[in-house]
Amino acid sequence: MCGIVGAVAARQVSGILLEGLRRLEYRGYDSAGMAVIDQGQIGRVRRVGKVQSLAEALAKHPLTGTLGIAHTRWATHGVPNEVNAHPHMSGERLAVVHNGIIENFESLRDELIGAGYTFSSETDTEVVAHLLDREVSAGKSLREAMRAVIQYLEGAFALGVVHADYPDQLVTARKGSPLVIGVGIGEHFIASDQLALLPVTDRFMFLEDGDIACLTPDSVEVEDGSGQSVDRAVTRFEHGAGSAEKGAFKHFMLKEIYEQPAVMASVMEGRISDGHLLEQAFGVEAKALFDRVRQVQIVACGTSYHAGMIAKYWIEELVGIPCMVEVASEFRYRPVVLPEGTLFLTLSQSGETADTLAALREIRSRVIGTLAICNVPGSSLVRESDLALMTNAGPEIGVASTKAFTSQLVALMLTTLALGRRFGLSDTREREILAAFAQLPALLERLLALDPEIEQMAAQFAEKHNALFLGRGTLFPVALEGALKLKEISYIHAEAYPAGELKHGPLALVDKDMPVVTVAPTNAMLEKLKANMQEVRARGGELFVFAGQDQSLRDEPGINLIRLPSIPIILEPIAYTLPLQLLSYHVAVLKGTDVDQPRNLAKSVTVE
Ligand code: G6P
Repeated sequence: MCGIVGAVAARQVSGILLEGLRRLEYRGYDSAGMAVIDQGQIGRVRRVGKVQSLAEALAKHPLTGTLGIAHTRWATHGVPNEVNAHPHMSGERLAVVHNGIIENFESLRDELIGAGYTFSSETDTEVVAHLLDREVSAGKSLREAMRAVIQYLEGAFALGVVHADYPDQLVTARKGSPLVIGVGIGEHFIASDQLALLPVTDRFMFLEDGDIACLTPDSVEVEDGSGQSVDRAVTRFEHGAGSAEKGAFKHFMLKEIYEQPAVMASVMEGRISDGHLLEQAFGVEAKALFDRVRQVQIVACGTSYHAGMIAKYWIEELVGIPCMVEVASEFRYRPVVLPEGTLFLTLSQSGETADTLAALREIRSRVIGTLAICNVPGSSLVRESDLALMTNAGPEIGVASTKAFTSQLVALMLTTLALGRRFGLSDTREREILAAFAQLPALLERLLALDPEIEQMAAQFAEKHNALFLGRGTLFPVALEGALKLKEISYIHAEAYPAGELKHGPLALVDKDMPVVTVAPTNAMLEKLKANMQEVRARGGELFVFAGQDQSLRDEPGINLIRLPSIPIILEPIAYTLPLQLLSYHVAVLKGTDVDQPRNLAKSVTVE
């Protein structure tokens, strides 16, 4: 994930920019660069590799000046090298940093070449630099040029631009990629994440899609997509948000559960434009690899494995190709048969799980390509895979995984759509699905409002020693994940079954002391599930039901029901996970266990 920092001040900015880049290192990148305007000239330094390499280069060739932009690049168009690193320039007087993907860059590049521009990089960003130059050369101000250029751009972007003729102006724009303005006294900043600017300010202005802003040391002028001048509120940074601190929450796990609405937005940010997926987000080689995929093999451990199980339902339904899922510790040690055209997909929060890594290393030479869906950039899994899609969930500290799981599911749906396009999934269906996913942040907020009801329900579990979880279809892996959460942190023995299997064994366990948690959304499997619930009631089992809008399911003796709002079917596995996370959390709190660091378990299992 690329990072942007920019500053316009009365003091030297290169130190501020460098520190900003350091603070964005957590996002993962492959090169870094900076451009600063000094006495009517742009000085630029770029390096492949770490921000530290850039810092060493700057120590030898300092960039002085009070206006500058800087960037960490995660390659999407063109390999990681110095020529492709940002900032990109048009001529000697204009420099640009960009996050996101310009989808129509090829046609724009052809047009610009026709107009006499020469390209020095393989990036999509360089077209933005030349387009801006063309407008400025035609007599527009830098800000007018930005207004004109963003009309040409299809895709997602956050941009920062400086021009040697405007030595006190930093012009910025965003659509689909995050960008925040840092408000100082006599100085202003931009960044792709407010964390980058915390050493210089704690006051921030968030731009909306289509906004353009012009920053000088003393002013910030914002115009919206229609060119109207607008005020965007200035807010203070809330300490603890998205960071490795608990803030007001009693436990990291609870904080991470509550972060999920924001995380849903951040995993989609910059990857969707005008209602469709930008598959370049998967990396430079994505298109060529996806074109050759004929089936998918998913390998993961623990919670990540459950995310993979849900993806199997999605891939086989929406793409229509086979998808196999297996836990890494089994997969790595057996002689597996993989048909030609297999994409090997690993899922991991940490990117360091020993079994998952070993499986990847074992299989690499026998598949057409490898994709890691992971929350830690720069982790071994990411480095060793052909493609990587970051889940952008922020650090997860609680050992029991919550936000990493739901963010993996979003990333898996993006993967499903990328593959689906190649197997007849219509543009209309893709748009419908992404429109539903766009509702996730708001929907999860509404589900969090059920917390007090779930806390009350939890009281009935505190004295139990066992629990059964039931679900069908995509809700079966959700039931598995619910049971895993409960056993991990409350030490209650919990198992999950696809509800149709009940009478093939687990029904023998059901009596008044066996709580049976059922995830029962209103979908095609509900009638079947209700029959399974009857089987439980008939044996005196106590049901704890997370239900949809179906009114025939009611709270009554033997059935404790929490009703969820109406949820699009495609979102059910994500939405129904959240109440189960809260249930385990409250049971664990009531039992007084160590919620964030349950006994015998580790966050990152780097040994076999
Ligand atoms: C450990 C953690 C789990 C996690 C599993 C896989 O067991 O406690 O929360 O699901 O490892 O980890 P990964 O980092 O590969 O997702």
